[in-house]
Amino acid sequence: VKPDVAFSFKDIGTEKSLMRKDAAKALEIMFKDAAENGIELYAVSGYRSYVRQKSLYDAEVERVGVEKAEQAVAIPGASEHQSGLAMDISSKSNRFYLNTAFANTSEGKWLKENAHRFGFILRYPKEKTDITNYMYEPWHFRYVGEKAARIMYEHNWTLEEYFNEVKKI
Ligand code: DAL
Ligand code: ZN
Repeated sequence: VKPDVAFSFKDIGTEKSLMRKDAAKALEIMFKDAAENGIELYAVSGYRSYVRQKSLYDAEVERVGVEKAEQAVAIPGASEHQSGLAMDISSKSNRFYLNTAFANTSEGKWLKENAHRFGFILRYPKEKTDITNYMYEPWHFRYVGEKAARIMYEHNWTLEEYFNEVKKI
């Protein structure tokens, strides 16, 4: 479904505006709470089909080669965007770019410290690239539900680390 939030683009019919229902609802609540705190967030890229991910991946491989491409764009079939649980988020202050500069904006900082309250995690943190195998993406938020998000935030765990801990229980 399409969350009722502000988007960085005008083509409202596009698949990238979609998310899975639970994630879409949580995103709406998060954007509203942010706005009440003077933080203006924009959704940039949500759901992607296999075909769309393949075209992004192929273009990145063409641009920088396989090794580098795989640190930035998931191979088709392995992207969280294909699950409908991820949203790339930016701000007007960052000219809607998805780049590391977003981390230094008030919107990027707010998301890092507050997304867990709404069930989202900053999925690819700066100091965890060896664990996630993806480069730092301060714009990519993945819905995991409030309980899991809180635990990950409190322990400073990535999803990989959380899975490892949960397996032991
Ligand atoms: N950029 C993230 C890793 C993706 O392609 O899903
Ligand atoms: Zn993303």
